[in-house]
Formats: sequence, structure tokens, C-alpha cells
Amino acid sequence: MKATMEKLVNLCKGRGIIFPGSEIYGGMGNTWDYGPVGVEIKNNLKRAWWKRFVQESDNSFGVDAAILMNSRVWEASGHTTSFTDPKMDCKNCKTRHRADNLIEMHSKGAVNPDTMTNEEMEKYIKDNHVCCPKCGKSDFTPIRTFNLMFETSRGVTEEGQNKIYLRPETAQGEFVNFLNVQRSSRAKVPFGIAQIGKAFRNEITPGNFIFRTIEFEQMEHQWFCKEGTDVAFYEDFKKKAYDFLLDLGFNAEHLRFKDHDKLAHYAKCACDIQYLFPIGWSELNGIHNRTNYDLSRHSEFSGKAMEYLDPVTNEKYVPYVVEYSIGADRLMLATLTEAYDEETLENGEIRVVMHFHPAVAAYKAAVLPLQKAQGEKARQVYKLLSKSFMCTYDEAGSIGKRYRRQDEIGTPFCITIDFDTLNDETVTIRDRDSMQQIRLPISELTSYISSKIAF
Ligand code: GAP
Repeated sequence: MKATMEKLVNLCKGRGIIFPGSEIYGGMGNTWDYGPVGVEIKNNLKRAWWKRFVQESDNSFGVDAAILMNSRVWEASGHTTSFTDPKMDCKNCKTRHRADNLIEMHSKGAVNPDTMTNEEMEKYIKDNHVCCPKCGKSDFTPIRTFNLMFETSRGVTEEGQNKIYLRPETAQGEFVNFLNVQRSSRAKVPFGIAQIGKAFRNEITPGNFIFRTIEFEQMEHQWFCKEGTDVAFYEDFKKKAYDFLLDLGFNAEHLRFKDHDKLAHYAKCACDIQYLFPIGWSELNGIHNRTNYDLSRHSEFSGKAMEYLDPVTNEKYVPYVVEYSIGADRLMLATLTEAYDEETLENGEIRVVMHFHPAVAAYKAAVLPLQKAQGEKARQVYKLLSKSFMCTYDEAGSIGKRYRRQDEIGTPFCITIDFDTLNDETVTIRDRDSMQQIRLPISELTSYISSKIAF
């Protein structure tokens, strides 16, 4: 693997993939803006996920729930009381850190803080003289727990303001709509509810680019099933989640399953698929058997029975939930890492190339007139192809430089319009990965490219 975080950050900034958030004001920690190329890639990842887990999935239904929800939702889900991180402040340089992160970094992953109590973490940090990553001193405050939810308020007058939260996960929007979806879609258990949307967490992190941010998108799928079938569905979702990544082009050697060492109080079992990020093996997505905890809690707090009536057996029960959750931005970082390559060409030059799956690449084709004289024809070809997929047009600089620019953003096909095109309506089409070129009639371009970009 050739990608480092530094190389990815620089490439992303220079090529319009991802920019630092609020950059002209000096930035804002852990926020990032997607540029013209990045927004296409991320949309394509979201589209591929939706296609796989909603469109092609029997009995799965999509929703787009509100970010701001009734505060009782977060009481029922347990977020107001237990969605916390163990924070410590460095007394010397006044920076704030997560105690679990300090231990993981210090032990280089050999010690697992997930299995420790706060007192055990404090003791480990003291006994092992764990240092502040900023100033190098080992002088921390005791651990304080810190709720990760962002608070805001609603109401027209100061006094009438009510505390509400920016959702820290999309999942609750799926749970609270269980009855609505089941009834309006006449869905029979087992069935799924999927959602893609923003989530917000007041994370204090070491700033690993888009790995962990305070605002991010999640793609979550809740599968409602009968108790007793949950174990098999949990295994199914592990496989589906893994296959999705392989089909996007991930190398199996860069992926591994990791069971959670410490289960959430409601979970029967839970695991992550980890990816070999530039920062090392880390969580890419989670698969959780959440039992009937969520629906039961919402029944309790809302007073509405979140039950399913089996039309065949007349049995009433609260379904179990198998959850599959992946961050769109986390997947974006993994996709960038996986795609990044540096190749030494015959002339000794280094070619940086992003080997994205063509379905994921921002632009499916770049249209490049060899000379200005072919510009008009090239524009016609660009317009034709743009009806079917995102394309880009570039007439600035030598053809070699233009190929390099497209390689760096992973455009799978470069189409060159030359002298012959004006006479015989054919073009040269260059493959990003092999750099091989073939000649094709313009009339066949759309179907040729379409056949190569399907996911
Ligand atoms: N509903 C379950 C849930 O939210 P999670 O493990 O906290 O579980 C699921 O989050 C996924 O969301 C993670 O596997 C990761 O891909 C992504 N994610 C979580 N926190 C994130 C953050 N601060 N920044 C970017 N992605 C995040």
C-alpha cells in the first residue's frame, strides 16, 4: 500500500476532492469540505451502497428522517446518559485527549482500553508515564466523561427554549419509523429500513483527515427479524458487508473482521470490518445484533407498542434488529487509500493513479481535443457523453499532462479527439489502468463506457 495520510490530504486538496473546512478562516478542527471531484466520488459510493442494500435487496425500504428529533428519542436510546467518551486534559499544555486513544497510541495497539474501567485507564496512564502527544509531558487531569452529542435549542423566546440534539447516528430515525414503514409498505418481517444521512458527534480526535470527524454521513441498514433468526441474519450481514467492499475493488488482505471486546449493554454480538488505513487497522463499518432493545425502549418511552403482528401465526412480538452501519466518509477514506498508486513509467517518471472502481470514479470519461482545432468536435462528444454520465473536458496543456491529471483523479477513460476524428468520426479511448489505447466510432462510445462502469 503506497498511500500515506499526507499524500492523500495533498492530492485531495490539489485535485478538488476534499478541502479543509472553513480554510480561509484558518480552518475548523475535524471538518472537511468535499470539492467538485470529491462530491462525485462520495455520491457514487452512496449510490452503490443504496443500490446494493435497498434497490437490489428484497424487502428493504429507504427513509430520510429528520436530523432533529424529539429529545425523548435520545433518552430512550440511552444516548443522553451513556454516549460518552473518557476525556483527560493535559495540565501542562491544556489540550484535551481521549484516555482510550492515549493508551492505544502508547501501547501501539497492544493494550485494549475498551475492556478497562476509567479507574484502570487512569492507573495505566500513570503507571506507564503515558505522555501528551502535543507537549510530551505526563501530567493529566482525572478522567471526566463527556457526552458526544451536540446540543442546540428550539423555541422563539429565551425562556421557552428547549434543549434538542443534532442526531449522533441515523439509526434512531429508522427505529422510530418502524411502524410507519411496516404499515405503509405492508412489509412482512423480516424486512429492512435503510437510511443515508448526516450525523454529528463532538469528537476530540488526533485529526486523521476524514477518518473521524464531528460531522459525517452514515449509511445504516436495520434488519427487523424474529428472535431466533437473528443469529443467522447477523452472519448474513457480515458476508453482505464484506462482499460489498470486495465488489468495490478492495483487496481482501486489507480487510479483516474484529469482534467487539466490550459489548454495548443491549447487544448480543457485534463486530467491525476493519480496514488497513494509513493509520493502521481501524474500524470501517460495524455489524451489530441489537436484540429487541431499541424497539422495546421506544415502546416504553413513547407509549406506542412497537410490535409486529404475524399475519400467519397471529403472534405479536417486538422484532430483533441486526444493524449494518458504515460511514460514507470513512468509506471514502478507505476507497482513496485503496485506489492510490504510484507507478514508475518506462521513462522513469512517477505516475500517480487512482484505481477506483469505474462506478466510483468522479468522471467516467475525459474528453481531450488533441489541438484547439478539434475543440468544436470534442465539445460535441462531451455533450453527447454527458447525457449518460459525468464527464470532464480538458484542452489545457500537453496531452501527457492532461492524462496525468485524469489519472490522479481516477478517470477510467480518456477520449482523444484528433485529425482523423474530423474525417472518420472515430476517437482514441485510453484505459486508465493499462494505458492501452483503442480506436472506436463515436457512435459506440456511450455503450462501450456504460458496459465498463456498471456496479
Ligand atoms: N448506529 C450504530 C453506530 O452509529 P458506530 O460504530 O458508532 O455505530 C458506525 O458508527 C459507523 O459510522 C462507523 O463504523 C464509522 O464508519 C462511522 N463513524 C462513526 N463515527 C464517526 C466519525 N466521528 N467520523 C466519521 N465516521 C464515523
